[in-house]
Amino acid sequence: MVKICCIGAGYVGGPSMAVMALKCPSIEVAVVDVSRPRIDAWNSDRLPVLEPGLDAVVRECRGRNLSFSADVDRHVADADIVFVSVNTPTKARGLGAGRAADLAYWESAARVVAEASRPGRSKIVVEKSAVPVRTAEAMERILLAHGGGGGAAFQVLSNPEFFAEGTAVRDLLCPDRVLIGGPDTDAGRAAARALRDVYANWVPEDRIVATDLCSAEISKLTANALLAQRVSSVNAISALCEAIGADVSDVARAVGGDGRVGGAFLNAGVGFGGPNLQKDVLQLAYACECHGLAEAAEYWRQVVAVNEYQKGRFVRRVVASMFGTVAGKKVAVLGFAFKEGVADSRESPAADVCRGLLGDRAHVSVYDPAVGEKQIRRDTAAPAAKERQVRVARDAYEAAEGAHGLCVLTEWDEFRTLDYRRIFDGMRRPAFVFDSRGVVDVGKLREIGFVVYSVGKPLDPWLKGLPAGA
Ligand code: UDX
Ligand code: ADP
Repeated sequence: MVKICCIGAGYVGGPSMAVMALKCPSIEVAVVDVSRPRIDAWNSDRLPVLEPGLDAVVRECRGRNLSFSADVDRHVADADIVFVSVNTPTKARGLGAGRAADLAYWESAARVVAEASRPGRSKIVVEKSAVPVRTAEAMERILLAHGGGGGAAFQVLSNPEFFAEGTAVRDLLCPDRVLIGGPDTDAGRAAARALRDVYANWVPEDRIVATDLCSAEISKLTANALLAQRVSSVNAISALCEAIGADVSDVARAVGGDGRVGGAFLNAGVGFGGPNLQKDVLQLAYACECHGLAEAAEYWRQVVAVNEYQKGRFVRRVVASMFGTVAGKKVAVLGFAFKEGVADSRESPAADVCRGLLGDRAHVSVYDPAVGEKQIRRDTAAPAAKERQVRVARDAYEAAEGAHGLCVLTEWDEFRTLDYRRIFDGMRRPAFVFDSRGVVDVGKLREIGFVVYSVGKPLDPWLKGLPAGA
């Protein structure tokens, strides 16, 4: 029986190993973590990662061939295949601060593998979380320095994860592709085959893509960078659409109908958020920079610069529309998660917009169906803002009561079907709606009496000529 151990029971390690255990009943899968509370949560009825369908998968496999444990050394020592899925946050200080990944957790995991290994027993070590290019090489060096002398043999593979938050289980059960990168040696190819055999339990063979190590690592960063680049591209077009009176959603539909371009990821909005896209674009730019490729680095940095521009542009629209000042005015904020369907507000554009409005001394009243008050307060904490400037409402109607303006910042379905007549009745005049996600029916809202701004759509006559958006 093959034994698998995954170091790191986080957003990536937990769900991906749970689905692996589900689909491979003859493989024993242990997920280990240094954080005891995290392991306890995985062993409880309240899992630390909320994903549709995940509870059912864990319930079915836990105690059968899936376990969660804080005994890292023992499970690593027992395993034939060790996945490494620890966090690689962007460095906050030191060399490459703000751009490079912090590999401290990664290195400590590599050392754990090296020290837990026994002579004569070979192991396949698999990079799972997104890492900078050439991390596998560094991993090999650490393992060789520790284990080589003792006779333990290691093969390092790269097998990056591509699932999106909110659809993790669906994406894992039915991935577009599984990528396995490995060294072009007999032992490397054998290791890659062993991992391919694991996935072949549920993934069609033609969806398993083999590359060398470095190509696999760079593919993961490139995939996220291209997604981010599409969002920034359509957002840049949204600014032009507003200037010339075109409609960005029509443009996206017309352009996306070309099979070569494709229609996905062309929704203009208030910018991309979440823990992955910006981090990976900046890592890619940093890798270019480290190799003296200044122009290539600058190209990718522009993707992030346009994202910042789009968030700033939205805030400037709000302030300029409301007669150049939001000081002391109540602004309702609908949606705080970085995208619909998740309770996650990491790097959420909504937080940046709130901080921008708070900086101009607005009072914001936030409602999100999934993100909790504590999280909202933490993410909106701005240096000059006072705590009483932020209210967290129980529903959209409460958030909008007495407000001068209302911003839609996450595309939650429930915002499409709100009673906007009731909202209008409770708001101050003129009542403004600023829709960053193309959620509201602009025509209907204008009929009710709202002044409406919707990103990338022809401007409300009220807003034309105002010096916003530049
Ligand atoms: C992303 C990748 O999609 C996934 O493959 C990878 O493994 C992890 O990173 P995720 O972070 O869950 O997944 O978010 P994603 O669905 O990609 O959305 C990222 C951001 O882009 C969100 O803020 C979303 O609102 C925004 N977005 C997306 C747009 O603004 N417009 C679009 O058309 C699509
Ligand atoms: P990701 O989104 O990449 O899964 P998370 O932060 O959600 O990242 O999870 C990473 C997990 O890895 C955390 O629970 C952390 O405690 C764990 N971790 C970090 N370093 C080690 C290590 N050396 N050994 C075991 N677990 C680790």
